[in-house]
Amino acid sequence: MTVKNIVELENIHLEFKGEGHDVNILRGIDLTIETGMAIAILGPSGSGKSSLMSVMTGLEKVSRGQITIAGERIDNLNEDDMALFRRDHIGIVLQAFHLIPTMTALENVAVPLELAGRRDAFEIAEQSLRDVGLGHRLDHYPAQMSGGEQQRVAIARAVAPRPEILFADEPTGNLDGRTGQSVIELIFSLREKLGTTMILITHDPELARKCDRVLYIQDGLIERIEEAGTANGKAAE
Ligand SMILES: Nc1ncnc2c1ncn2[C@@H]1O[C@H](COP(=O)(O)OP(=O)(O)OP(=O)(O)O)[C@@H](O)[C@H]1O
Ligand SMILES: [Mg+2]
Repeated sequence: MTVKNIVELENIHLEFKGEGHDVNILRGIDLTIETGMAIAILGPSGSGKSSLMSVMTGLEKVSRGQITIAGERIDNLNEDDMALFRRDHIGIVLQAFHLIPTMTALENVAVPLELAGRRDAFEIAEQSLRDVGLGHRLDHYPAQMSGGEQQRVAIARAVAPRPEILFADEPTGNLDGRTGQSVIELIFSLREKLGTTMILITHDPELARKCDRVLYIQDGLIERIEEAGTANGKAAE
């Protein structure tokens, strides 16, 4: 079943107990994202971008507010149900690749599928790695691959289960310009092929320009939202 709004956030607050005073990281975020959109999240360091992604992916519990992803309330799920929800709906790519060093590229992609009960895990994993141009690196270990190749394995792993939403936190942050560019092209070509909703945190204006909408985060709040075509001075259609 597809829902119209794949993400619905209502008055999201995230606070941490500090010494003497609490630290307010997210201070009342309301956000709706329609299914199929590509969203870029921009903002200064420390503004709350990764925190926002952590609450949307259930890696961090909100202090207040409601989160509905793919039609399901997730703010009140326990850890086990949250892990299942992530497995069934969400793909995550982080700046550091988080590959398992003792597993080959193929195993890094296939083992999570196998754990999810897919009998055809290795076939799906191989196809997913071919899709990201790594058909010739299936049996390589992370240490035997370049940064760009490792990030492509991480992307293959995130998209192999065909998630409804792909979250990426600075997916090109650890890559040089040219490699980053090819990873961006890869992400968008996968989107074209699969129609996945994408939420990308980035410092890269080039990447942001390719998205349908750009959210600017400042001090734990959404400061403004720009629709595609207006970000670079052009009028919206
Ligand atoms: N577990 C935590 N405990 C206390 N403060 C935290 C915690 N996690 C994050 N913060 C604080 O929350 C604020 C927002 O952090 P966050 O990582 O979301 O920023 P960001 O926008 O992703 O920044 P960057 O662009 O540098 O990655 C920062 O001031 C950070 O120090
Ligand atoms: Mg961050």
